[in-house]
Formats: sequence, structure tokens, C-alpha cells
Amino acid sequence: MLLTLALAAVLADAHEGAVSLLRSRCVSCHGPDKQKGGLRLDGRAALLKGGEHGPAAVPGDAKSLLLRAVRHESPDLVMPPKERLSADEVAALERWVRDGAPWAETAAAAGTGDAWSDPANPIRKIWGGKRLDLWSLRPPAHRDPPPGPGLSIDRFVRARLGTIPPSPEADRRTLIRRLSFDLTGLPPSPEEVEAFESDPAPDAWERLVDRLLASPRYGERWARHWLDVVRYADTNGFERDEFKPLMHRYRDYVVRSLNADKPFDVFVREQLAGDEAVRGVPKTPEEADRLVAVGFLRLGTYDSTQDLFDEKRKGHNELMADLVNTAGQAFLGLTFACANCHDHKYDPISQADHFRFRAFFAGVQRADDAILDLAPERARLDAAHAALDAEAKDLKAQRDELLRPLRDCIAVERREGFPEEVRALLDKPEGERSAEEKKTLKPWLEKLKVSDADVLKALDADATSRAGELEKAAAAAETRKPAYTRALSVREAGPTAPETRLFYQGDLHEPREVVPPGFLSVLDPNPAAVRPPEGGASSGRRAALAEWIASASNPFTARVIVNRLWRHHFGRGLVATPDDFGYAGARPTHPELLDWLALELVRGGWSLKRIHRAILLSETWRQSSRHAGPGAAADPDNRLLWRQHPRRLEAETIRDAMLAVSGLLLPKEAGPPLWPPVPDDLLEAQPGILEVKSDKGARDRLQGWMTDPEEKTWVRSLFLVQKRVLPLPFLEPFDLPDMTVACGKRDVTVVAPQALQLLNSGLTAKASAAFAARIAVGPPAGSIRRAFRLALGRPPTPAEEEIALRGFERWSSIRGEGRSALVDLCRALLNVNEFIYLD
Ligand code: HEC
Ligand code: HEC
Repeated sequence: MLLTLALAAVLADAHEGAVSLLRSRCVSCHGPDKQKGGLRLDGRAALLKGGEHGPAAVPGDAKSLLLRAVRHESPDLVMPPKERLSADEVAALERWVRDGAPWAETAAAAGTGDAWSDPANPIRKIWGGKRLDLWSLRPPAHRDPPPGPGLSIDRFVRARLGTIPPSPEADRRTLIRRLSFDLTGLPPSPEEVEAFESDPAPDAWERLVDRLLASPRYGERWARHWLDVVRYADTNGFERDEFKPLMHRYRDYVVRSLNADKPFDVFVREQLAGDEAVRGVPKTPEEADRLVAVGFLRLGTYDSTQDLFDEKRKGHNELMADLVNTAGQAFLGLTFACANCHDHKYDPISQADHFRFRAFFAGVQRADDAILDLAPERARLDAAHAALDAEAKDLKAQRDELLRPLRDCIAVERREGFPEEVRALLDKPEGERSAEEKKTLKPWLEKLKVSDADVLKALDADATSRAGELEKAAAAAETRKPAYTRALSVREAGPTAPETRLFYQGDLHEPREVVPPGFLSVLDPNPAAVRPPEGGASSGRRAALAEWIASASNPFTARVIVNRLWRHHFGRGLVATPDDFGYAGARPTHPELLDWLALELVRGGWSLKRIHRAILLSETWRQSSRHAGPGAAADPDNRLLWRQHPRRLEAETIRDAMLAVSGLLLPKEAGPPLWPPVPDDLLEAQPGILEVKSDKGARDRLQGWMTDPEEKTWVRSLFLVQKRVLPLPFLEPFDLPDMTVACGKRDVTVVAPQALQLLNSGLTAKASAAFAARIAVGPPAGSIRRAFRLALGRPPTPAEEEIALRGFERWSSIRGEGRSALVDLCRALLNVNEFIYLD
């Protein structure tokens, strides 16, 4: 090995001249700026990979394309186009290829370097060296936490606080309520609150955190956050907005992955390129999961009418742009969308970078029918299908056999009725008939064709019913076929992906040069090294992209995900713009802490639960959220984290909490989404849904609203259908995100429709009634106390108890019963701020 390395180095030295020839005479048209013929000649890998006509050089092959070009062997390819190389120079290139095209892989010789070290880096040229101070471009730096007692997170935060004192720890009721909602999206039961309040053990908090992290409800809660980022919906969007009955498998995959604490780098790889890691039929549940995971690439909007209007290219262009934009935002916190039409105006991302990124996805094809059944089961199913196909074929043959004699008979009979001259023509062998005769015969030949209907008409009753039976049996064989388990997935057509061209100003009618797959050229302007996986079913491009994104040295990935976690634990990220780590985005308030968390994530094998735990055990997280003390004046926005941020619950969490508190919440952990009843006028306001009434096609395309019985829909909101054109009326006012672009940060508005939904919706009425029934045992005072503890996790204050009791007595005196008073009380509790805000 040493010897070969040494030899390679010697050879590379000897051929230094050939390589510098390429650099001085070819790279201007075949390098980072231009890739004429799709070819780059600024690195060995690129050269061996070649351009539109395949490898430019094959080591040892004197007929290599590059040599033929410089020898002017064919007028079609003459390189360089203007000044011919001298005979000596051509000979140097020939010797170099003969010796295996060695290339000294020093940083300078391997191609163009990163924008900081190499003036030839294209980004350096575009921005004149500016824009390179963007903080997020530098890999996270290792920093020891500042000295002092306590956990690392607290030490970083205290150092930034300086003289501002942190807030005291919140009381235990507040803590468990905050923690339950943070980790599971559900309120703690009164019993859980009590147990924690009275737990004297020093590790009471730690055990509680661990218990809730291990709860299956954790995956459901955090899946919701991830689904926002990947803009999950169950429908296609656009006017038709068809339902995708299999999309939910991706949602369930996310829940499962989070519950299992799948390492985040694996999670990334599976979603970008899971299919590339499965050869043929999946053999393990993990392999089947990978086919589901790339459902990530199927989540965008899709206009199914594009086929009708010949807009396939447009649709494909939009799909490619969407994949780049979403993957860029979700994993890297970068706004690639802005570089679709021109170089990014703020960030060091060139337009070519956008298209280099696209090229990774170029091979993607939709696979609506990916089969998940594992190898043995798959073989069984295939065999069953084959057997039933054979059975149907046999039955059809029997039927044809039954009809054949009669069919022949009818034909003979008809022929006898034809005029003499026609019959004579029919007797003539086909080859001898003149064109004129053929024309004459045509209508008569038509008449000789005997249809099934003609035969059946002539059959006797017995034979008719026998033929009918055979036909039915054949059809039944088809319906007896056992179903495969399927998913919405993707596949590629083979090892070579279609070319990607840059579109001038983003216009697909203005294609420019071919762009090879590559990462951000500010970091590395050379084409990515891509190797098709064994078996040749795909290009390997997405696997290469996933590898880069999920690598510890990627400056964005780990920072972006730990920032997302932080954001959901504090209501604000260390970077306040979780989907934009660029110039227009916010700067980190605690850069050292962010880097520490990012490196901690990688150190811990990309375990997200480990990061949750580190955050939740910190004093910083456990602080009270009260806006009081010196911090209130010094840092009113709490950018430095001298207290916890109070937060409003999200739409889904409010609904889930209502169902949980009232006892209506039904268990569901996976499976097809449910469709709650929605008022007719809302349904009819949607043209696509309305169309179902008059058009069977629209029904078959699943454009409608497939209402389930209401009582079945009282499951967690995660499991309700997400229809793009019709967000659920109860949830919508509480800032549901628009599911067309990545959303790492929902708005929090306060608008009147929220109060109206909370007070008057059908759901509130039903939940209040069920809640009242749940607590209506024993004397009123006991019911009232239980109601408070269920809804708010605490007993009523004496004043609250008194008001509630008075209401109770008033109702009793009017109606002679206290039940309605309880319903009113419950409705009121579901409406207080304390119910929908977390301290
Ligand atoms: C002034 C620009 C320019 C320079 C300089 C140049 N080329 Fe080219 N090259 C092109 C263009 C344009 C094409 C596309 C084919 C065509 O139109 O001839 C091309 C195509 C090629 C191809 C075929 C690629 C494929 O797979 O289709 C090879 C090989 C090649 N060049 C080699 C070279 C070599 C070797 C040099 C330097 C000795 C060189 N070129 C210098 C412009 C250039
Ligand atoms: C669909 C194509 C397209 C997209 C996507 C796009 N732009 Fe533009 N933008 C243009 C065109 C065309 C111009 C005018 C020509 C030019 O400057 O290249 C322009 C001009 C601009 C300008 C002013 C030009 C100047 O130099 O003063 C800014 C700033 C800008 N865009 C920012 C953005 C940002 C930020 C985004 C992403 C949020 C974005 N653009 C996305 C097409 C687009």
C-alpha cells in the first residue's frame, strides 16, 4: 500500500506538466464557472466521470475522448476550440493518460478550494470576498462552558446574563404542567401532579423527565413539530386537492423514529435517500421503513391537472425547486428558494448552487405503489397473485372454448348470405387480392366479425348461464387477490440521472449550462463525489447529499436541529429564525451555547432525547416565567434568558388538552387519518369538494371530504386529516401554518375567532358536557375542586371556589338541578387563559 502511494506520488510529480496544461488551457471552459459539454477538467474524479459523452479519460486508454479531442481526430470535437495544442503538449497528455492520469491530490490541485482559502472559489468572485463572515458557515467551535458551578447550559446562560440574576425555580405544579405539555403535548393528570409535588427524592425531577421522554406520547408531540418543518399534509393541494390515503405512513414513521430516539443523522439519511439503501424487496422492517421515509420527497403540493394541460415539465420544475427549498430549510436553515432565479442577494449562495443542489434530486420519480411487504411475505403474495392470474386466465379460456363452435357457425351462416361476387373474393387468397378488391371487401370482413353479444344471443339458456358463471369466476379471482402493503415513495430509473441545467432567471424555457450535483460552493465548489449503489437501481446522488448533510462537519445540520429543540422548549430559538441561518436571519443570542449543543448532539451519537434531557434538567429551563425583578428592566424581551418564556399552546395542543381533560380523548397511535364533521357551507365553498357531487371522476380521485362519525374523531389532532384547502375550523384560528412551505416557527396571534371557537364550538360544548359528567359525583364542592385540578392542575383558590359554588346554587334554584352549572363551570375552565397558556 505504501509502495503504491509512493509510486502514485512520483507519477503525479512527473505529470505535473499535463495537469497544469489542463488548468491553463481547459479549465476556463471546463471548471467551476463553465462546464461546457457538462465536463469539468479541474479534478481527477470529475475528469474520469466526464461530460455528456461519458468519461473524458479512461486511465491507460489512448483512445480517451480527451486525447481524441486534442488530436483533432474528428471535426466534431476539436479542443481547445481555438488555439491548437503543440505536438509536445499533446504527447504530454498522451503519456499522462497512459500512466493512469495521476493527479496530485493536494488541496490546490484537487480543484478549487473553499472561499476563505482560494481566491478562485466562485463565491469569492461573486461577492468580492464579502459575505464570508456569515457566522453559520463556520463549523461549530468547541468551547468549554464558562467556569462556575452547575450544568454546562446554565453556565453558558449565566455568563451572558452578567449581573442580571436568573429567576427562581418555578413551583412544582408549574414545572410538571410545563414539562408534560413540552414533551407529550398533554396535561398531567391530578394524580401525577400530586405525586410529583409530594416526591421528596432528590432525583424526583430527573425521573419525571425520563418517564415522559419514554412515553409514546412524546413521539406524537414532537412529530407535530417535525411535520410543520416538512409541511406535511394528507392531500395534494391545488383546486382538486386529492386525498393521499397512504401519506400517513410517513407521519407514523416520524412518530416511531422519534419514540425510538433514532439518531438524527440516520433520520436525515432515511428521509433523503432511504430508497437508495434498499436493494430490491425490503428484507427487514428497517428497510421497509426507509421506503416510507422518502415519503418526505412526496409531501409537496402536486397539481394533477398538469398532465391534462401538458404542463409536465413545469410541474417537474416546481417539484425540483420545492425539494431544494424544503430540504435546504428543513435540514440546513438556508433559503435556497431565493437563488432559484438569481444569485442569492444576501447569502453566499449562487444560482448555480441552487441548481447543483437540484441535481441531487434529478433522478427522483414518484412511486405511488412501493410495496413494503418483507421478502418472505412478498414471495407468498406474489405467488398468490400469480396463482389467481393463472386461474382467471384458465376460466376465460374455458369460456372462449365454450363460445367458439357457435361463433364459427354464425360466421359461416353470415357468409352464406353474402352476394356471390363477395364470396368469390373471400375465396381468393389474401395475397392475390388487388387494392380495389381489398377495398370492396373491407365492409364485408367487418360483418364477419362475431361479437360476444352476438354469440350470447344465439346460445341456449344453459350455455348462457355457464358462460356467465365462468366470467364471474374469472372476475372473482381478481378480487380474491390479497392486498400488498403499499406506501407513497420514490424510485430512480437507474444509475444515471437526467441532466440538470441551470435556468436563466429561473425560467425553464431558458436552459443554460449543465450543472453537476454539488454542495454549497462557498465550502466546496467541486462536483460532489457520487457513486451509484450496488445493483444500479439509482444514481447514488441523494445518498451523497444525505451523507454531506448528516455529517458531523456540516456547519448547519446539528445547529439547526438543536435550535429547533431549544425553540420548542423555550418558545424562542437561540437563533430566533429557525428556518433561516443566513444574513437576513437572526444572529444567535448565545453562539457558544448553540455550538456546544450542536457538538454535544454529535458526541451523543445524534440522540435527540439526550439533548432534550440536558435542556430540561437545566436551571435555565426550570426558571419561573414571572416578568419581575432586575431582568424585567434590563432585558425586557428576555433575550438573555433570565426567565422562562410563557407560551400559548398550539392549536392541536389546545384541542388535545380539551379532549384529555374532558375524558373524551380516544387512544390512537398510528393509521389512516380521521375526518371530523365539518359544516356543509364550508365544504361547499371549496370547488374541488363540491365537484364530487356531480362528477364521479372527482369522487374516484378522492377530492371529497370523507366524514367519519364524530365520536370516532376524538383522537389527538395529529391523527386528523390535514387537507390543504380546508384546515379544520376549530384549529385554524390558532395560527395553523400554511402547509406549502417549511414552518419552523408558527405565528402566535390573538384574534377574536379564537375566543369564539373556544366558547361556542361544537367541540367545546361536547367536551364541557363530558367534563361535567366526569366530575359530577358527590357534593358540589368536591366536583368543583376536581374540575380545577383536572383542567389547571391545581385546586381552586377560596375566592374561585366561592364564585363557582354561588353559580351552582343559582342554577339549582332556577332549575332544581346543578348539572348545567357544572357544564358552565367546565366550559369556563376550558376558556380561561391559564388553560391555554403555559407558565
Ligand atoms: C473556449 C472554451 C473551451 C475550451 C478552452 C476548451 N473546451 Fe472543451 N468543450 C468546449 C465546448 C463548447 C464543448 C461542447 C462540445 C462542442 O460544442 O464542441 C466542449 C467539449 C469538450 C469535450 C467533450 C465533452 C463531452 O462529454 O461532451 C472534451 C473531452 C473537451 N471539451 C476537452 C477539452 C480539453 C482537453 C480542453 C483543453 C485542452 C478543452 N476542452 C478546452 C469548450 C471549450
Ligand atoms: C421566480 C424568480 C425569483 C425568485 C424565486 C426570487 N427572485 Fe429576486 N429577483 C428576480 C428577478 C428577475 C429580479 C430582477 C433581476 C435581477 O436582479 O436578477 C430580482 C431582483 C431581486 C432584488 C433586487 C435586485 C437588486 O440587485 O437590487 C432583490 C433584493 C431580490 N430579488 C431578492 C430576492 C429574495 C430575498 C428572494 C427569496 C425570498 C428572491 N429574490 C427570490 C427573480 C426572483
